[in-house]
Amino acid sequence: TSSDHVRIVEVGARDGLQNEKTLLPAVVKIELIDRLSDTGLQTIEATSFVSPQWVPQLADAAEVFGGIRKKPGVSYPVLVPNMQGYQRALAAGATDMAVFTAASEAFNRRNINASIDESIERFAPVLEQARADGVRVRGYVSTVLGCPYQGDVPVSDVVRVAQRLHRMGCHEISLGDTIGVGTPAKARAMLRAVAGEVPMAALAVHFHDTYGQALANILACLEEGVRVVDSAVSGTGGCPYAKGATGNVASEDVVYMLHGMGLETGVDLDKLIATGAWLATQLHKETASRVTRARTAA
Ligand code: HMG
Ligand code: MG
Repeated sequence: TSSDHVRIVEVGARDGLQNEKTLLPAVVKIELIDRLSDTGLQTIEATSFVSPQWVPQLADAAEVFGGIRKKPGVSYPVLVPNMQGYQRALAAGATDMAVFTAASEAFNRRNINASIDESIERFAPVLEQARADGVRVRGYVSTVLGCPYQGDVPVSDVVRVAQRLHRMGCHEISLGDTIGVGTPAKARAMLRAVAGEVPMAALAVHFHDTYGQALANILACLEEGVRVVDSAVSGTGGCPYAKGATGNVASEDVVYMLHGMGLETGVDLDKLIATGAWLATQLHKETASRVTRARTAA
């Protein structure tokens, strides 16, 4: 018997913006995060302390992190790829961080210029220091349902990488369908296999909606027992190093589905819709959220 509460991990300010060509000013990112805090979201990924050469959009990570109004009870995790990122994030005041690797060697090489083993070696000192500093670290596994360079990714590879991150001390493992190619039965089987080695309570799912399968995949994973779902307001997102990947599933659409199923999120859907519509205006883009389009139609 699973709980009726689903925690949304809002990744719009990080995943959502990292692939945007037009640089958004820090003040707009800060306003985005503050507005998201006011919707009732408990977990709002704020930015990444990665190489500014690799992700220019997030070069202002310290300024953004320092400028947001930290709402009590809300956590603001940031991505860190290595010890240098950890030190920058710690100096900015971050207490929640995330490391990221992949189940596919080919993708990992392009995304963080390291093999899976090398990436895990880089994370070891990060997790050790985090333990000493009282910092919580999430672990991402990308390409769990397919890789743009390698194609199929064996479920056993996903299980192995997720298990290693969990054993190293990552409190939560987010399973990412980076390019949105997964379908429900595959998503369910993958989650079930990982949950054989890592407790379901420590797992999250992260679907990009490239092929329009994200909500269906989330539903399959909810039925399997997952209770943490990553999504991005307005359906923004994409990884600059994942060819062909588009946005994350829209948070508005996930919240609408969950509430419709009688699951609770603590999120005010109307405020989330308003925030997504505002962000789309800032990006000069039409929102990818179907719920927002339906609600704001003239
Ligand atoms: P590298 O070039 O191999 O790194 O990149 P390096 O250690 O050789 O350093 C090269 C330069 O970068 C040096 O500067 C370092 O100081 C600097 P230089 O001496 O040339 O002036 N540098 C840094 N600067 C600031 N902060 C740092 C940092 N590290 C090194 N932390 C590296 C390796 C990992 C740094 C690079 O590949 C990188 O930053 N990659 C990040 C790519 C990224 O952010 N991708 C998107 C996030 S993952 C994602 O979206 C998937 C996810 O959403 C889940 C899913 O959908 O599947 C999470
Ligand atoms: Mg992603």
